[in-house]
Amino acid sequence: MSDPHLSQASALIGSVKAGRGAAPIIKSFFDEPTNTASYVVHDPATRSAAIIDSVLDFDVASGRISHKAADKIISYVKAEDLTVGWVLETHAHADHLTAGPYLKAELGGQLAIGRDIIHVQNVFGKIFNAGTEFARDGSEFDRLFEDGDKFAIGDLQAIALHVPGHTPADMAYVIGDAVFTGDTLFMPDYGTARADFPGGDSRQLFRSIRRLLSLPSETRLFLCHDYKAVGREQFVWETTVGSQRSSNVHVHEGVAEDDFVAMRNARDATLSMPKLIIPSIQVNMRGGHLPEPESNGGRYLKIPLDAL
Ligand SMILES: [Fe+2]
Repeated sequence: MSDPHLSQASALIGSVKAGRGAAPIIKSFFDEPTNTASYVVHDPATRSAAIIDSVLDFDVASGRISHKAADKIISYVKAEDLTVGWVLETHAHADHLTAGPYLKAELGGQLAIGRDIIHVQNVFGKIFNAGTEFARDGSEFDRLFEDGDKFAIGDLQAIALHVPGHTPADMAYVIGDAVFTGDTLFMPDYGTARADFPGGDSRQLFRSIRRLLSLPSETRLFLCHDYKAVGREQFVWETTVGSQRSSNVHVHEGVAEDDFVAMRNARDATLSMPKLIIPSIQVNMRGGHLPEPESNGGRYLKIPLDAL
């Protein structure tokens, strides 16, 4: 196979399916205000866990931060007696603030994201005119993954895959026989993520999706968001490679790259910015840390005018 990292991921998924490797226990937490699915993934043998794509509650009208969503995760981790080894981000989210540093402080674990977060930090560091306190070298995180990097959650094997397009730094995490896709794919009836944020690229997104969809058909996919496609009553955030290949409305088998790019670009041109993009990016580009306090001790977020 010409893609060694993908063939390693396929082999890992196959070995778990065949009962030769540990399978993860996955608990999902759906945050309806931001349509985000967060996950706690653990190894039943060692009770070692990873948290993926957490949410920090933010009320934009009052500027107030709270921890209701993150505290549900903390309660679960404590009730299940898990040890958190990793606090993973699939990317710098534009629609919710991450609770990564809060969860790390409460539960431990290494904060990790893709290495290309550095590009995202540079782009948005300029847009927000962040000062020298913002290093833009990824040092806000404990680990920066590159494509094909392997890591472990107890006895669970995991592989990080770089899947750019929605943003330049998007990662998908293959953990045992499950893949956490971040914002590449949505449910088959809803399609795919937008690719029009700074550094986004619809052609790259298509190629990243095709890569994920060349994993074994029975591979379980866990998505970062669901928006309930028209006609569907329930939120759903789990699907399979096979379902995506056969029925994803944007990228089912047979859709040509140029047709996808034309569709995605036309659709993105009609979308307004996510409600929380300005606070989200400012916090998430810092690994979820808030901007340093000003001389009066207060912390502030900026609104760049006519920049997004
Ligand atoms: Fe996103």
